[in-house]
Amino acid sequence: MKGLILSGGKGTRLRPLTYTSAKQLVPVANKPVLFYGIEAIAEAGITEIGIVVGDTQAEIRAAVGDGSRWGVRVSYIEQDAPRGLAHAVKISRPFIGDEPFVMYLGDNLLNRGITRFVEEFERERPAAQILLAHVPDPQMFGVAQLSEGRVVRLVEKPKEPIGDLALVGVYMFGPEVFTSVDRISPSFRNELEITDAIQDLIDRGLTVRPHIVSGWWKDTGKLEDMLEANRLILETFERRIDGTVDAESRVEGKVVIEAGAVIERSIVRGPAVIGRNAKIVQAYVGPFTSIMNDVDIRDSEIEHSIVLEGSSVHDLASRVADSLIGRNVRIYRAPVKPSAHRFMLGDNSEVGIRW
Ligand code: G1P
Repeated sequence: MKGLILSGGKGTRLRPLTYTSAKQLVPVANKPVLFYGIEAIAEAGITEIGIVVGDTQAEIRAAVGDGSRWGVRVSYIEQDAPRGLAHAVKISRPFIGDEPFVMYLGDNLLNRGITRFVEEFERERPAAQILLAHVPDPQMFGVAQLSEGRVVRLVEKPKEPIGDLALVGVYMFGPEVFTSVDRISPSFRNELEITDAIQDLIDRGLTVRPHIVSGWWKDTGKLEDMLEANRLILETFERRIDGTVDAESRVEGKVVIEAGAVIERSIVRGPAVIGRNAKIVQAYVGPFTSIMNDVDIRDSEIEHSIVLEGSSVHDLASRVADSLIGRNVRIYRAPVKPSAHRFMLGDNSEVGIRW
């Protein structure tokens, strides 16, 4: 059995971060989203993984390498443009051969892993097995209709409601799927949809088994989902302090402070993680916050946020919350007259100012 991870796409819902970086490499609890997927596949005993990459391939290759860090072998499959998940399957045929495979969307996160799902597929060996979850906003996903424990109909981003069972971004396939990806046509968004390919398997009389997820699942394509995934992962952390905390600071609850980080005259209230060589001085870091390596927080307060490498937050009068701050960003109080907000923001940035 092989693994296929899709790590292309433009990440439009996470701009401006995704102008300069792959969405799959945005860290959740200080680890790139993509790494959780690789770990889940490796844990299920799969050692051959193909990663489908697009424009951001250089960055993905640099971050993942040959996979030896996880005890797997990683090959890269180039997709010339984001032409859909079924197109990604099509171009991966030479890598997959005739083996069954698990396909994992590189921006999806599942807390219970996929081992049970993979075992069930191997035992039953249907043409495909899909993972489903109840969601409040099914129009944002592919949606499945079930009858007597079987999948009978699938619609991508349904306009008319057909139920609330969304397709989670993890699928199992036998080689039958390669015929189906050749039989379908591009959708309303001009992509070859995997949802349509699975519907084609059903139309050909083949079995598609559903498996409803018991734990939580997150598609981290948007800011709110990213923050929620961050919250869910931080909650699973055990307290570990490898950095330096001075006598005037308080570190409360589930907090990870990596080696080289320095906490001075500050309060860090978990769950939270502070990355290597970060500096927290005269500051408050509140619950559900991930501070990456080399970040500098001074005379400021922050909570329920993610701050990426090398950024700084200095001397702010009010607390930062619910934020995703990119790499090498500087936020500070400027001694300018007239008193004004002064910005230098990328396209599609979003700033919320206190009333
Ligand atoms: C894709 C699939 C959709 C699925 C979702 C899960 O959507 O097309 O069926 O429910 O992933 O994350 P996209 O992220 O391309 O909008």
